[in-house]
Amino acid sequence: MLGRQSLLASLSLLAMLLLVFLILFSTHSNSPLRIPNDEIAAINNLVPADSHARFTLLIGIFTRPEKYERRHFLRLIYGVQSTSLARVDVKFILCNLSGEEQRAFVALEILRFRDVVILNCTENMNSGKTHTYFSSLPGILPFRYDYVMKADDDVFLRLAPLAASLEGLPRRDLYYGFVIPCPSMNPFVSYMSGMGFVLSWDLVEWIGRSRIAANNTYGPEDKLVGQWLDMGKKAKNRFNNKPAMYDYPGTNGRCSHELIPETIAVHRLKKWEQWVHVLKFFNVTAGLEHSNIIGSLNRSLALNECAVMFETETGDGGQCRSGAHGGSLPCTSCTRRHTSVLYCLVYTRRQRGAREPTQLHQKLSMTRSFV
Ligand SMILES: *[C@@H]1O[C@H](CO)[C@@H](O)[C@H](O)[C@H]1NC(C)=O
Ligand SMILES: *[C@@H]1O[C@H](CO)[C@@H](O)[C@H](O)[C@H]1NC(C)=O
Ligand SMILES: *[C@@H]1O[C@H](CO)[C@@H](O)[C@H](O)[C@H]1NC(C)=O
Ligand SMILES: *[C@@H]1O[C@H](CO)[C@@H](O)[C@H](O)[C@H]1NC(C)=O
Repeated sequence: MLGRQSLLASLSLLAMLLLVFLILFSTHSNSPLRIPNDEIAAINNLVPADSHARFTLLIGIFTRPEKYERRHFLRLIYGVQSTSLARVDVKFILCNLSGEEQRAFVALEILRFRDVVILNCTENMNSGKTHTYFSSLPGILPFRYDYVMKADDDVFLRLAPLAASLEGLPRRDLYYGFVIPCPSMNPFVSYMSGMGFVLSWDLVEWIGRSRIAANNTYGPEDKLVGQWLDMGKKAKNRFNNKPAMYDYPGTNGRCSHELIPETIAVHRLKKWEQWVHVLKFFNVTAGLEHSNIIGSLNRSLALNECAVMFETETGDGGQCRSGAHGGSLPCTSCTRRHTSVLYCLVYTRRQRGAREPTQLHQKLSMTRSFV
């Protein structure tokens, strides 16, 4: 009896989530292909319009449903980065969920972050997830992006240099990434590594309707993408981004080299030491280390069990723009004239002894600017 009840309960939760998910992705599916930035912001209303954005980029990070902690870590990694050149949205791409645990925990993530896309596919290597990803996007996204990226969950992408590298490139018929084999410097020989490659929107749409792609979905997925484009005589514009993209030093022969300042992507980050090395090398946390907020943050951390920091840039109307996952906060000290980096700290307090680990007890916010 009890078993049936909880089954019913989880089924209705699932139905509700599917509804939320459908609403999220279908509201504007009948709109014309191109929607101005301010309307995008209105639809999404998480991130205010950025009038400086020259183009839009969707980054889909392929990961598996059970990798909850990896997703939380990556939310921080991308939440603290920003670029005014482009609107960059980061989403996690999963195939079908299985089991009550995945349904419950991923449901929490969707409710809180709205950055999970669940595709109709199964999580096996080489069984078509990449094809499902690209071919589903035009149908599920509320608007088109200029570029769509497929990325791994063991890669560190630096959003500002990534956006800068795309800015001057064609918006059509573009295939961009790290060309395989390792020594190749010719973007036509032969395909882009799955660490992170970018396609322009027209190629995403082409994959969705191409018989060539649909008939050739099983096998090494990144190589297949190159084959589809070759067979379809597509992607006249190709851009090989070596040496700015690479595998972490010492992990993959000639695909690896030392960390360099002009980096866009470092791949094969499997160990925490490697992430620490990368974060330090690229000064990702340096802004906080040198700030005078550290004392109060330390005190807060002693009281609070979790802290989330969003790096922001000053916005136009007294709003500051947070990272991809932050939401917007009114920041009274944001003005047009004030161009220094501004941090909005939002932290949720978890009461000691609370029985539910997810019971978010108190939400505090504060802002501080650094010159
Ligand atoms: C999901 O994929 C399966 C197998 O490819 C297919 O039979 C089914 O119709 C798909 N479901 C939806 C909702 O698209
Ligand atoms: C994924 O789940 C949906 C809904 O439960 C189901 O209809 C579909 O067949 C599944 N697809 C695959 C490929 O397993
Ligand atoms: C699909 O591929 C198979 C085997 O590679 C081939 O025999 C068939 O003609 C292809 N179909 C289409 C529509 O391209
Ligand atoms: C990190 O900061 C140091 C000290 O300011 C600087 O010398 C170095 O170039 C920075 N590294 C990168 C990759 O920007």
